[in-house]
Amino acid sequence: MSDAVDTIENALFERFGERFVVDPTLPGLDELARISARRVHRRYLPRAVAPQLLRLLCACALSAPSKSDLQQADILIVRDNERLNAIAGLLPAMPWVREAPVFLVFLANGRRVPQVARMRGKPFPNDHLDLFFNATVDAAIVLATFLRAAEAVGLGCCPISVIRDHAREVSEILELPQKVVPVAGMCVGWPTEEGRVSPRLSLDTTLHEERFKEGDLSAEIDAYDHRRAGLRPYRNQRDVKRFGTASFYGWSEDKARQYAAPARADFGDFVRSQGFHLD
Ligand SMILES: Cc1cc2nc3c(=O)[nH]c(=O)nc-3n(C[C@H](O)[C@H](O)[C@H](O)COP(=O)(O)O)c2cc1C
Repeated sequence: MSDAVDTIENALFERFGERFVVDPTLPGLDELARISARRVHRRYLPRAVAPQLLRLLCACALSAPSKSDLQQADILIVRDNERLNAIAGLLPAMPWVREAPVFLVFLANGRRVPQVARMRGKPFPNDHLDLFFNATVDAAIVLATFLRAAEAVGLGCCPISVIRDHAREVSEILELPQKVVPVAGMCVGWPTEEGRVSPRLSLDTTLHEERFKEGDLSAEIDAYDHRRAGLRPYRNQRDVKRFGTASFYGWSEDKARQYAAPARADFGDFVRSQGFHLD
């Protein structure tokens, strides 16, 4: 059996707790192996990523599909130390932002299409939620495509949505104009370690056929918590002061604790202040 088939079957078993049988004659198995076994990387070798390589990867990322070919996603490369330090200084819990050889910011750009409308002397009656949503979706697809391209050449990446905890400051540092918002940052570098596959909810929970079905969510979540704890137990419990120490601490306990505190409740205000209308 080929290495790629092994990799895919093992990665998906670890990921979903389900055995897949992969046809070894399928084309593109190397790519499926990379996609199925991908993992986040937060530690990087002190080795530069050549600017031409980065530009190539950005071009591949920006080859992603774009809603109505409107092309509303941009990538911003942050090289300047002062800017990088200013951003990293906002995120002391994430030292990998400062340590990564490359830091990118993926932007939702809802500005260009209204500018084009003005250039061509046309009305623009679409300044509503859809403008923000389409630009954000495009940026997310470009981000995901960047990950795929970077991982194909052996780089490791970590998206950074925590920049949105400081959306206003980050936007000032990056001089983002009206109707441009940061969707996520991205650390990029040559990884120091292999990393581990992160188990996901079972496909019984997240894959639907014909119609949405919820099934026995509670039992499915319990099963996932235990499967995951067997493979990747949490090292620390979140917010013990408020919630105490749980005898069993699984993914659902962690996520419930994480979202028991308000997160980015001011993000809507920020997006509106950047000139987007969210109605
Ligand atoms: C949109 C997005 C934002 C993320 N933001 C952060 C972040 O701010 N900091 C961080 O360390 N990891 C961040 N991550 C990485 C996730 O924590 C990671 O993907 C998740 O734990 C699953 O692990 P895996 O990618 O190895 O499957 C982000 C991932 C995505 C897709």
